[in-house]
Amino acid sequence: MSTVAIAVANQKGGEGKTTTAINLAYGLAKRKLPTLLVDMDPQANTTGIFTHPDQLEKSLYDVFVGRAQLQEILLSTPEPFLKVAPAKLSLAEFEALQNSVDAPFVMRDAIAKLKDYKFIIMDSPPSLGLLTINALAAATHVVIPTQPEKFSIDGMKALQGTINSIKNRINPNLQILGALITQLKPKTVLTKTILPVVSQFFPVFEQNISDGVAVGESHLARKSIYDYAPDSKQAREYQDFITEMLGELKA
Ligand SMILES: Nc1ncnc2c1ncn2[C@@H]1O[C@H](COP(=O)(O)OP(=O)(O)OP(=O)(O)O)[C@@H](O)[C@H]1O
Ligand SMILES: [Mg+2]
Repeated sequence: MSTVAIAVANQKGGEGKTTTAINLAYGLAKRKLPTLLVDMDPQANTTGIFTHPDQLEKSLYDVFVGRAQLQEILLSTPEPFLKVAPAKLSLAEFEALQNSVDAPFVMRDAIAKLKDYKFIIMDSPPSLGLLTINALAAATHVVIPTQPEKFSIDGMKALQGTINSIKNRINPNLQILGALITQLKPKTVLTKTILPVVSQFFPVFEQNISDGVAVGESHLARKSIYDYAPDSKQAREYQDFITEMLGELKA
């Protein structure tokens, strides 16, 4: 299998991108699949699970402004098969300053030089700006975490438009793996309400992720859901999501 590069994207805030990126990457690494988790969000939430962004000497910002190679900024993690490319707030400056025609392709060029990874998971910011475009231009696949709520669905048309433009203009091979319903509350009846609407825009993973306190607690403990609460419902759900996704990739 050649490298699978997955952009975890949704321009709406708080949909579960970072939670999904972290637990997808950890889950793959725990299956002994060499994985790189790339934090493309200046908020640096993913990075904060592994280190303090303020203490970083080098970050993805240096790669984006041409001061470092991606290989030089990678951090080891407690998980032997997982490395992280950290972000910090300064990454936001890239979006403001950059106006070259190469700007959407920094990430694609950076990962083209890497050979050691089966999976590259890219967490992206809550916008359809240049950083999300970089993730989608570099990706072979996209996963779209979404809450089962009206306002979440309202943004789907814009996201679908962006993904289609990227496919048409710069990354024709980009495949949509699907929308992953996250933070599902016990009483929400998906089949009648949300699923028919979301599936107008994207295929939807059969597995979804339920709402549970273990997720927020795992972030505070700076751990994956599997390490923080291995017996939690969400740990099982994220594992089953990964199994479903791997099946889809083989198909
Ligand atoms: N399954 C879940 N159960 C309970 N809380 C969750 C779950 N998934 C995510 N959350 C919580 O919801 C909030 C948003 O999640 P997360 O940070 O993953 O979203 P995001 O899309 O990355 O947000 P942003 O757009 O700001 O980057 C966080 O406080 C997180 O702990
Ligand atoms: Mg996030």
